[in-house]
Amino acid sequence: DRLDQRWADLAGRSVVVSAGGTREYLDPVRFLGNRSSGLQGYALARTAVARGAEVTLVAANVSLPDPAGVKVVRVETTSELRDAVVSAAAGADAVVMAAAPADFRPVSASDTKLKKADDGSAPTIELSQNPDILKEIAHDRLREGQVVVGFAAETGDDTGTVLELGRAKLARKGCDLLVVNDVSGGAVFGAPDNQAVILGADGAVIDVPLGSKAALAHAIWDQVLARMP
Ligand code: CTP
Ligand code: CA
Repeated sequence: DRLDQRWADLAGRSVVVSAGGTREYLDPVRFLGNRSSGLQGYALARTAVARGAEVTLVAANVSLPDPAGVKVVRVETTSELRDAVVSAAAGADAVVMAAAPADFRPVSASDTKLKKADDGSAPTIELSQNPDILKEIAHDRLREGQVVVGFAAETGDDTGTVLELGRAKLARKGCDLLVVNDVSGGAVFGAPDNQAVILGADGAVIDVPLGSKAALAHAIWDQVLARMP
């Protein structure tokens, strides 16, 4: 089986992968979060190690064991994720943003637990937008020739199909590759399998049929490798 083979085609390459979903705290016990399991990011880290890469995995709230041979940095918030990814990206040949950062955070978090009022009222939570890590990494290119990869889960809507929205997002982010999941059929969160289309800034369109997250990870590394100097 192809997936069990150990190539060394990423030997000498240093890569950064982010995984999981960030949390934005409202108070010490409550947060805004999302359903990202971290499975796809962990599959990317494991397959990169298997192919000989030096891997830093920035994991946001993932309840999976550390993959062997990987440097794992654990974070919680989008701001912490940004700092860890930017710091690791300085020496990286590739950065893959498989994490789902919360797009918004509460303008202020309470140091003490929020209590509910007796009159049945509820608080209004004011949000501000988080930094866009992928856009920043793609714009700054901290190392020459660095390959930058994003993910997008799209449903398609009245402004465009899944692929049209993916193509627009790729351009907006300025990354080299965007892995687009069609999630209109239902949830993929926590599922063992994945199906995707990999879009390249160079116009490439690679269909990856439904298969394991490791199989998709290998297909992504194939495209990353092909674009490394
Ligand atoms: N991303 C990021 N920083 C953010 C938000 C997203 O780096 N603050 C990255 C994700 O890790 C992913 C890619 O950008 O690789 C696309 O994420 P997505 O949520 O689809 O993009 P958004 O720009 O947040 O657009 P949307 O309004 O569709 O959520
Ligand atoms: Ca988002």
